[in-house]
Amino acid sequence: MLAAKRILLIIGGGIAAYKCCELIRHLRGQGAQVTPVLTQAAAQFVTPLTISSLAGEAAHTDLFDLTHEAEIGHIQLSRAADLVVVAPATADLIAKMAGGLANDLASTLLLATDKRVLLAPAMNVRMWEHRATQRNISTLKADGILFVGPNAGDMACGEYGPGRMAEPLEILAAIGRALAEGPLKGRHVLVTSGPTHEPIDPVRYIANRSSGAQGAALAAALRDLGARVSFITGPAEVPPPQGVQVIRVETAREMAEAVQAALPAEAAVFAAAVADWRVANAAGQKMKKDGSGRMPVLDFAENPDILASVSRMGAGRPRLVVGFAAETDDVERHATEKRARKGCDWIVANDVSPATGIMGGTENAVTIIDAAGAEHWARMSKSEVARRLAARIATALGDKA
Ligand code: C5P
Repeated sequence: MLAAKRILLIIGGGIAAYKCCELIRHLRGQGAQVTPVLTQAAAQFVTPLTISSLAGEAAHTDLFDLTHEAEIGHIQLSRAADLVVVAPATADLIAKMAGGLANDLASTLLLATDKRVLLAPAMNVRMWEHRATQRNISTLKADGILFVGPNAGDMACGEYGPGRMAEPLEILAAIGRALAEGPLKGRHVLVTSGPTHEPIDPVRYIANRSSGAQGAALAAALRDLGARVSFITGPAEVPPPQGVQVIRVETAREMAEAVQAALPAEAAVFAAAVADWRVANAAGQKMKKDGSGRMPVLDFAENPDILASVSRMGAGRPRLVVGFAAETDDVERHATEKRARKGCDWIVANDVSPATGIMGGTENAVTIIDAAGAEHWARMSKSEVARRLAARIATALGDKA
């Protein structure tokens, strides 16, 4: 899987550094070459000798290594890699990266690299939750840095919470994803997700129970196949995935505008639960009880149907338009009718009657309706549904390319 890939592995100074020994073994087992770099603090937790023995290469520790600097040079170290991995990424290394500091070999390499960088953070839970760390993480995410973990659990310091480094196999999987040149490489795909909020007045709104879980999983799965994903999301419970372009909206009309602005795309997937109606007489100021006992009356206006309007675009229509249908009865018939009415290529239908626990849950059971008919999928996790749908999308785009 990782044959001939070169990983520059920067090991930070934390107790989780010992897990890097296993990570290096896994990486080499998959055929990758590992160039290890240890910070000074890392060398207190694992010895450069252990690391270099496992990596089968010298472990670099000094910025000014008089025997190697002329020969290898820190810039080359970072340029020769296919991917830079920092594990454990300590609070200190994260802060240096976010601030662009370069005062040792590890931080200098991170500033000098032009390759993708994957961080596996590990630190005490309070350090992780500290505003400074969270601010730095946001900065790095905005810079396109990839993350795996941290996980929640018991910490070496005796506390409990988020801050444990991801396990070596999780890091290995994240490395695989980061290096993947999937079938959708470089292709632009648009995904809508989450609910919309339709204001009643400046403080109140009408919404729905969509968590945004399926849309987020789908965006992540498309990203993993190499797509450039524009992720247009209403105020969802589930956070957007990393490595996609996130466009946040509130209302259906904002979503419609954001979709138009994000086009053209090769495929567009409409997983958002868009409000069908907005309040036509929304108040500009907070509505107040006036003591008269009279109830406010809300008038409604129909929202634009984003899926239908994109499906019926002439020039510039995405080659594949996929809609979702949340139904509570006679799923296949309603979804088939919906496909015809909206003019989309596929409808992904699911039964959201309360007994199924699908709405807001982690599993989904979907039926795909396309020109060929209905395809029933067994109940599986939303992330598995997402992976299979992404693969089906890749196949469909590939066929027509
Ligand atoms: O009509 P209904 O809401 O059941 O259709 C569901 C599909 O249509 C979903 O794919 C949803 O994202 C999309 N939709 C839309 N704009 C709307 C309403 C629904 O894109 N205003």
